[in-house]
Amino acid sequence: MTLLVTGGAGFIGSNFVLDWFETRDEPIVNLDALTYAGNLANLAPLQGDARHSFVKGDICDRALVDRLLATHRPRAIVHFAAESHVDRSIHGPGAFVRTNVEGSFTLLEAARAHWAGLQGDEKSNFRFHHVSTDEVYGSLAPDAPAFTETHPYEPNSPYSASKAASDHLVRAWHHTYGLPVVTTNCSNNYGPLHFPEKLIPLMIVNALAGKPLPVYGDGRQIRDWLYVRDHCSGIRAVLSGGRPGETYNIGGWNEKANIDIVRTVCTLLDELKPDPAGPYARLITYVADRPGHDRRYAIDARKIERELGWRPAETFESGIRKTVQWYLANADWVASVQSGAYREWVSKQYAQA
Ligand code: NAD
Ligand code: DAU
Repeated sequence: MTLLVTGGAGFIGSNFVLDWFETRDEPIVNLDALTYAGNLANLAPLQGDARHSFVKGDICDRALVDRLLATHRPRAIVHFAAESHVDRSIHGPGAFVRTNVEGSFTLLEAARAHWAGLQGDEKSNFRFHHVSTDEVYGSLAPDAPAFTETHPYEPNSPYSASKAASDHLVRAWHHTYGLPVVTTNCSNNYGPLHFPEKLIPLMIVNALAGKPLPVYGDGRQIRDWLYVRDHCSGIRAVLSGGRPGETYNIGGWNEKANIDIVRTVCTLLDELKPDPAGPYARLITYVADRPGHDRRYAIDARKIERELGWRPAETFESGIRKTVQWYLANADWVASVQSGAYREWVSKQYAQA
């Protein structure tokens, strides 16, 4: 028994792989192209661990994916690999179409060919688990009910449109070819190993460096936050008990306005690493809004709770404290990901800040 994980050197993928081996010995083959967002240092605790095989490669490389499937005969593919940052998708959507749409298509075709050659239990137990996002549903009005699995798809950014396209391909490969797929649509994750281009790690890293904390627009946009290891446990629950062809929303019922998130991070830093120059909130700076910025996301997680008994282990208060503590304890990791390319991105994105 083996899993083929794609994108397992990124934020959620590496947390998934590390978490997996805390309770299981089933091997993982980890296929990741190591883009700017992929980092082998995330997997350092697994160095020399025979259960984990890392393969540097692209999910668009059909010959490579075919070879991995034939060699390792995984019982499931857990597909995380993606371009994941909305702001980058606004600057350069091409990479998002390539990886998120063409890459998912390549994996589906390889999985279909592989699955067609399986027999008996190996065939009926095979799963293609597609990891997706709540952003495919678009933006919610302030008083609208949270997204259920039947909410219409209304993606608004190049990123969410590319993820929506991949979700549709996955659905069609089940409906037309019978490929046993499951899709999970999760809300905003946070936690250790989160690349500091996203809101929470960017605020922690900038605050510690005494830099402005850039809040887009009025800061009242709402996201629904889930601690990354809770997303991982949700994926495990769906992988083992989810019904083929079904989609499951994953979320922690934690809607927060961006400005409140930033203030919480500042308050925790004031407690854990006080700055002699004054409270970190002095660094909050309102900047131009993201084009097409979705106002509100919220996940209705009742299906996964009801069918699979899944519940998050962390509250927002416990998870955000652990997260800030992790960044304070891992200054070397933070320094190592702030390469020249990272600095170029920050100066391009926040030129007006
Ligand atoms: P990430 O950007 O941190 O990591 C993506 C990983 O994919 C990186 O390791 C990168 O090297 C790899 N990758 C990119 N292109 C590749 C390619 N062509 N071939 C092979 N590997 C490639 O992303 P993340 O935040 O960990 O998100 C993982 C998945 O979860 C994505 O599919 C994303 O859409 C989804 N998701 C993310 C969130 C969130 O809050 N971060 C929430 C819901 C769903
Ligand atoms: O909802 C799930 C999605 O969450 C995932 O599918 C994406 O991969 C992930 O990146 C995330 O998308 P968001 O756009 O919601 O995350 P981000 O951290 O970029 O931004 C969170 C909110 O904070 C959003 O409303 C924009 C705002 N923001 C972000 C940055 C980087 C700011 O105000 N300032 C910033 O500098």
